Amino acid sequence: MSAPQWQGQCAGCGAWNTLEAAAAPVAVGARQRGLSGGDAALLSSVQEAAEPRISTGLGELDRVLGGGLVAGSVTLLGGDPGIGKSTLLLQAAAALGADQVVLYATGEESLQQVGMRARRLGCTQAPVALLAETQVERILEAARAHKAAVLVIDSIQTMRSESSDSAPGAVAQLRESAAALVGFAKSTGTAVLLIGHVTKEGAIAGPRVLEHMVDTVLYFESDSGSRYRMVRAVKNRFGAANEIGVFSMHGSGLKEVRNPSAIFLSRHEKPSSGSVVTVIREGTRPLLVEVQVLVDSSVLANPRRVAVGLDHNRLSLLLAVLHRHAGIAMHAHDVFANVVGGVRIGETAADLPALLAVVSSLHDKPLPQDMVVFGEIGLAGEVRPVPYGEERVREAAKHGFSKALIPAANKPQQAIASMDITVVQNLADAIARCF
Ligand code: TYD
Ligand code: MG
Repeated sequence: MSAPQWQGQCAGCGAWNTLEAAAAPVAVGARQRGLSGGDAALLSSVQEAAEPRISTGLGELDRVLGGGLVAGSVTLLGGDPGIGKSTLLLQAAAALGADQVVLYATGEESLQQVGMRARRLGCTQAPVALLAETQVERILEAARAHKAAVLVIDSIQTMRSESSDSAPGAVAQLRESAAALVGFAKSTGTAVLLIGHVTKEGAIAGPRVLEHMVDTVLYFESDSGSRYRMVRAVKNRFGAANEIGVFSMHGSGLKEVRNPSAIFLSRHEKPSSGSVVTVIREGTRPLLVEVQVLVDSSVLANPRRVAVGLDHNRLSLLLAVLHRHAGIAMHAHDVFANVVGGVRIGETAADLPALLAVVSSLHDKPLPQDMVVFGEIGLAGEVRPVPYGEERVREAAKHGFSKALIPAANKPQQAIASMDITVVQNLADAIARCF
């Protein structure tokens, strides 16, 4: 019998002052998994382990992983149902199978269904071991028996572990199954890839609880209706976070898009107002994207601010700066902002282009088509520098742009061929130069 506090009378027999305090045993055993053991070691004596990378055969996937798969690493690939997670990892498994032992465990589809997908992808002959199983311990047994170097789990939501008796998909079950897989990866050096379904709304309760347990978290996302798919690294112990890899979905699987800047720019016939091209830097590569804004007179007391691909609060903040420091009020206007191609910008480098697009749409005056703009905007209306300014300008030059409007502090040391660079100190200055 256990009680939360001292009691005078025994609830069992009714006798007084007979109870004695004893600490309840703490459950040990099952919970204590992970990296453990050994004495403390000096940092300088720790061998720098070489991290040989295993190529997945898909350059864009290798890029987001930081150069390929790392032995003993655990990667979570999240994304909406139907976006192509199974397709991506089956393609990767088929390529990896050429010189690694690969085990693909499916808890979601039958072997026939996986076989049908393989036929579409044209990889039925790939040496990949398939297993239809949802019991983690049995999958690990098979992985041990096959000496698998790569293990794909499709999906973690369908897995159950012996050490938990809650329903598959429940948070406790997810944790236990993932813990068993992580322990296996670390102790055997097998690279484990976990697929997890994430719905846009319920993002928190699902596989996100696993984010801290795994080494790398990738999200597979797309603009609805578009054939382009982006894999984004939101966490990576072996590479740059925010790196993106771009694919397009075809009848025969996913194809890499090697030059993604080209698809995120919608080519207008003639200059159009409200559209500004900017250079963002996702992970380790600069990317040209188009920011579009539509300003319309509003009949609402609280005009609408809609931002797709940009941060909604940031847009409101920028509109306040536009009012206070450039004297342009948007109180009577709805503002709709969109980033072309389903790209999500998390960088402040898009501040200046977003506001110039607002002003361009408001006055219905297009900016030059061959111009790129980037720069952060401060609350005092100043235009602040962003990291890798010169690299961004060079990327724009590479894609045929000939004008750049950039923060003064980002001015390249040397002139860049065929690039006419205008530097600005503050927002009012930038607007005066453009309109
Ligand atoms: P799938 O990999 O099953 O998605 P997930 O595992 O993320 O749920 O892919 C589902 C979609 O991809 C499906 O709507 C069909 C489409 N698809 C293609 O367009 N071409 C292909 O070659 C394949 C295999 C799938
Ligand atoms: Mg699937």
